[in-house]
Amino acid sequence: MVNVKKIIVTGSSSGIGNSITKELIKKKIKVIGISRNNNKSLIKSKYFQSEEIDLSQLKNIPMSIEKILDENQDIDGLISCAGVGYFGNLENFSVDQILSSINTNLLSHVILTKYLVPFFKKKNKGKLIYIGSESALDGGKKGSLYSAAKFGLRGFSQSIRAEVASRNITVTLINPGMVKTNFFNNLDFQPGLSKKNSIIVYDITKIVISILQMDTNTSVDEVVMNPIIKSVIKK
Ligand SMILES: NC(=O)c1ccc[n+]([C@@H]2O[C@H](COP(=O)([O-])OP(=O)(O)OC[C@H]3O[C@@H](n4cnc5c(N)ncnc54)[C@H](OP(=O)(O)O)[C@@H]3O)[C@@H](O)[C@H]2O)c1
Repeated sequence: MVNVKKIIVTGSSSGIGNSITKELIKKKIKVIGISRNNNKSLIKSKYFQSEEIDLSQLKNIPMSIEKILDENQDIDGLISCAGVGYFGNLENFSVDQILSSINTNLLSHVILTKYLVPFFKKKNKGKLIYIGSESALDGGKKGSLYSAAKFGLRGFSQSIRAEVASRNITVTLINPGMVKTNFFNNLDFQPGLSKKNSIIVYDITKIVISILQMDTNTSVDEVVMNPIIKSVIKK
């Protein structure tokens, strides 16, 4: 039995966030799902509240999240999953693309957390779970923008963990390797075709659920997950 009643999940419309959302709903946990277009996920449930917010537009986040927190005093956690793959040689990105990448993949998580922390401090409990990446651990060719954001998210989660630990708020960063999702739709590469080359999305969901079920005195700081054989292919 999961120990929470209501959770914010960003990236609820697709992939990892969508799998987590569906599993929480199945367990009768209310989900406030944030993405730009929740309609594509076809989730229709009294346990699902759709909030369509473009997280790359940082200025819109404070008003939206303050309203959500005002109206939902029983929120227990944030699963911060929304993200976009920006891969390529740095000089080929426009300044607008650089800003959008860092805004979505790093700063939106920071700003959401800024509002969740005082909210959880008042309750003296809360779970913050971020979906990082293997790119939070190692940089690589064409990964400068994506890794800059994900390394940043890792440093952020380590620091915020130290900041909130005394208030029974736990902070987890999950760093998956490749998972077959819509993430690769606009990229020129994808995981290898063998089942051994990508993590099953539901395995990430199982990790998230088990973290939500844990005692408040247990902190799972970081989880690293990989397909058993790493292989990347060009499309
Ligand atoms: N797939 C992988 O191999 C992999 C590996 C490691 C880490 N990750 C990380 O896992 C997370 C989820 O990725 P995924 O694989 O599930 O990809 P996905 O299927 O493309 O899902 C991405 C989610 O993020 C949301 N999102 C993207 N930009 C947004 C914005 N500006 N505002 C609000 N929501 C936004 C999308 O919703 P809308 O499009 O409706 O806005 C969607 O729900 C990301 O942080 C990604 O970096 C993925």
